Amino acid sequence: MPAGTDPLRVLHISDLHLTPGRHRLMAFVRSLAGLEPDLVVNTGDSIASPEAIGCLLESFGPLLDRPGVFVYGSNDLYSPKPRNPARYLWRTSSGENETRSPDLPTEKLGEELAAAGWLDLNNKRGQLTVGGRDIAFAGVHDPHAGRDRYDLVAGQADQTASLRVGVVHSPEPYVLDHFTADGYELLLAGHTHGGQLCVPGYGALTTNCGIDRARVRGLSMHPQVARDDGKTAWLHVSAGLGTSPWAPARFACRPEATLLTLVPRSAP
Ligand SMILES: [Fe+2]
Repeated sequence: MPAGTDPLRVLHISDLHLTPGRHRLMAFVRSLAGLEPDLVVNTGDSIASPEAIGCLLESFGPLLDRPGVFVYGSNDLYSPKPRNPARYLWRTSSGENETRSPDLPTEKLGEELAAAGWLDLNNKRGQLTVGGRDIAFAGVHDPHAGRDRYDLVAGQADQTASLRVGVVHSPEPYVLDHFTADGYELLLAGHTHGGQLCVPGYGALTTNCGIDRARVRGLSMHPQVARDDGKTAWLHVSAGLGTSPWAPARFACRPEATLLTLVPRSAP
């Protein structure tokens, strides 16, 4: 944040893959309102069945009264299919749905979140004022599903805003490169599930997308090698809260929601 501004508390939620009956998960998400975040960012894969939208809204509960933004993940479009959970380790799921038509009520999901006041960032830019601070956003629909249209949001981020945030489900490096080049300085993504099935002492075996294993979850810089123009961004990848109902296993990879506190730069 610019010097002299108050810290900004950002709650990053991702990959709930919610189905009715996940009462513990729903109660946990609902409890997150107690953190009193200034801003909520949901990086997608929220639902895993058409009936889950009501449960999702119920889970978010008081969080919906706070400023929020969201993008979709591929699993907000396609209902989950039975698969060998370990398949995740040897191939990416990109392109798996190319022959299917979306069968989840994605539009309704977006309408409900937008009706609650959250900003839809699927191939859209937007602005929110949070505690007197203007925050400029750009987001894309999920590159993992081939739905990203960066051309629709391209262009320099608003330099008069207090903060510029780029949001995407799958942290594909080419999308992160675009955001960074346009001046977005905090990039938020999910999708990787932190590797989902990890090896203790070694970490993730795969990221299921283009990002490297070292950045499968958590905070890092993007890009890792300095650009010629010196631009750089903080990247936070959430390991997410759920899994596909057909692959309900994590190993050495805890689910998470993350509270990021953005602090002012020290005055030069
Ligand atoms: Fe996911």
